[in-house]
Amino acid sequence: MAGCLAMEAVLLVGGQGTRLRPLTIHTPKPMLPVAGVPFTVHQITRARDAGVTRIILGTSYKAEVFREYIDANDLGIEVVIATEDVPLGTGGAIGHVASMLHSGPDDPVLIFNGDVLSGVDIAGLVNAHRSADADVTLYLTRVNDPRAFGLVPTDPHGRVTAFLEKPQSEAEIVTDQINAGCYVFRKSVIDSIPHGRPVSVERETFPGLLDGGAKVIGVVDPGYWLDLGTPLSFVRGSCDLVTGTAPSPAVPVTGHHLIDPTATVDASALLTGGTAVGAGVTIAAGVRLDEVVVFDHAVIGAGAHITNSIIGSGAVIGADCIIDGAVIGDRADIGRGNELRAGVRVFPGAQLGESWVRFSSDRS
Ligand code: GDD
Ligand code: MG
Repeated sequence: MAGCLAMEAVLLVGGQGTRLRPLTIHTPKPMLPVAGVPFTVHQITRARDAGVTRIILGTSYKAEVFREYIDANDLGIEVVIATEDVPLGTGGAIGHVASMLHSGPDDPVLIFNGDVLSGVDIAGLVNAHRSADADVTLYLTRVNDPRAFGLVPTDPHGRVTAFLEKPQSEAEIVTDQINAGCYVFRKSVIDSIPHGRPVSVERETFPGLLDGGAKVIGVVDPGYWLDLGTPLSFVRGSCDLVTGTAPSPAVPVTGHHLIDPTATVDASALLTGGTAVGAGVTIAAGVRLDEVVVFDHAVIGAGAHITNSIIGSGAVIGADCIIDGAVIGDRADIGRGNELRAGVRVFPGAQLGESWVRFSSDRS
């Protein structure tokens, strides 16, 4: 489908990623390396390969980090950075870039949430939008528990009948179809978003369009979808990119692990499940890492067993530690023989002495 769209897109990368906070004080979440490149690069290159020729990154936070990367790396697509002085919300951020778009009033413009990993058929979504002559087309996915998302019921013709952001009561859970965080907007609809104040696209723009009789359609795409909002979903997404379960043009070679060429990994270490190891990391003998993200310059001591976790940049994990479902902050120093499980977060720079934390009485 490459080349058939020749259109513009807006990528919302403004939120501060507070739920990953122990790791993201200096790096905005969309710029955290995932499977070798900043997360946002996976989205940009997918849009590029679907024929998007110009993309605007809308951010209210750390614009300089985005600018530095974009200036230093040619992604094969024009990337423009739009900075909000204060966060304008999801709708305000879209309205804010209206004057920067070159598209005509009837042209389709793609919008992406910046924290979603998906295999959505971008060209198919635009085609559906064009053939329905819709004002807005929403990419929808089905989930088991829709409570943390925007619920989007549709009629038998695919017309959206309501938009229920983060339902508060059981009665509001009327469908398992959710807003998957990618839309096609008619450019003139973007022009109609109010300026100069925060606007939520989910709570204000979509309900307003529906009340006003606009043609809003939903397309359920059954492909890969994941919101990377929590640390463990971040790990899931990273592993899925490394193994190829999640599609990305920015991951040319997929496999059991992805190891930066500057990392030192002992030959007896076992790295599985899409484990990603960053630059300058040192991994000692007998280490086992299954579904783990290890950021740059971390050190993993001999015999440590780590599963389903994030190890922050420069963190030191002592020998024989057992770590499962944990987030270890940047530069934390975990002494030998600690056992850290079940969602525990160790904040940046924290120090744990030898065997200080165990889930069993042994102190071997
Ligand atoms: N530029 C800018 N400015 N971007 C923003 C702002 C802002 O003020 N606020 C949020 N964003 C960006 C976030 O960075 C993220 O990429 C996207 O907008 C969505 O915001 P989240 O804060 O991640 O929302 P959510 O995950 O709770 O819910 C949204 O995504 C779900 C799918 O993952 C909603 O769109 C739901 O309806 C949807 O189901
Ligand atoms: Mg989100």
